[in-house]
Amino acid sequence: MAAAIKILSDYDAKILYKLYPDLPKSYREGCPSCGGQKYVVLDGVQTPCNCKEQLALYKLYLDAGVGPTFQYLSQKDWHGDQTVFDAVTQYVNSLKKNIESGCGLLIRGDFGTGKSLLGAFVIKYAARKGYLAYMTTVADLMDSLKEGWKDAEFNQWYKNKIDSAQILLLDDLGRELIDQSSGFSDKYAKNIVESLLRTRTQQNRSTLITTNWSMDDLRVRYSNAFMSLLEETMTVIEFPESAVSYRPQAQRAEQGFRQII
Ligand SMILES: Nc1ncnc2c1ncn2[C@@H]1O[C@H](COP(=O)(O)OP(=O)(O)OP(=O)(O)O)[C@@H](O)[C@H]1O
Ligand SMILES: [Mg+2]
Ligand SMILES: [Zn+2]
Repeated sequence: MAAAIKILSDYDAKILYKLYPDLPKSYREGCPSCGGQKYVVLDGVQTPCNCKEQLALYKLYLDAGVGPTFQYLSQKDWHGDQTVFDAVTQYVNSLKKNIESGCGLLIRGDFGTGKSLLGAFVIKYAARKGYLAYMTTVADLMDSLKEGWKDAEFNQWYKNKIDSAQILLLDDLGRELIDQSSGFSDKYAKNIVESLLRTRTQQNRSTLITTNWSMDDLRVRYSNAFMSLLEETMTVIEFPESAVSYRPQAQRAEQGFRQII
């Protein structure tokens, strides 16, 4: 990767090391991809590992809320629906323009079809380009409003991530109404999401949403005002009904056999 990877602020780095105590302090101490052996085997071919870059990317992506599973997968690993993939690629190809004009995406489809992965591709790309980008689940957003969720310092950091994100992925909209693990009422959960999207629209900030729900399901659950906000600020990308879950075949590359991209 030619472009320099953004160095995290001291504040972000402090929170990250608190969240992940095992995170190596320097690439000489450890590498998430090769484990320190300085090479990885990709598709059977031994390849040198750029440990310094790998650790920097690992931290950049964790800081953007992208967990390890999605870090090691890149666009070239995509085996899902091509039309949906092309639509997301088109969005990424005009990312600057999309972020400047506050445009987002609503990605909808069945369980396991790859919605979160596609969202993660966008957030990773935005983070690499130096944008303030963040990925979170709507369920975590709800949990963050509960007293005693994680610690106060993390909670403050999380809120700041959400507020300052130039591009924010709200993953799995609707799950919070099914799980009810937050202990909040449907109405409260809906209000939180609606007001967040309203604020972001007023600030001209881009939001990406993934959901299992159909537009009709969403229309039943959310207000007309919210739906028109969605349609005004987001391009709707829908997986065809024929799209199948990728989860049963999903493979995790082991240390020594993976690169963060
Ligand atoms: N096209 C793909 N290529 C490689 N791996 C994939 C692909 N699509 C999905 N996966 C893997 O399959 C699993 C499911 O993908 P993902 O979590 O993105 O689905 P989802 O549509 O968000 O599902 P859900 O509706 O349950 O949230 C993940 O482990 C992901 O890494
Ligand atoms: Mg998902
Ligand atoms: Zn390495």
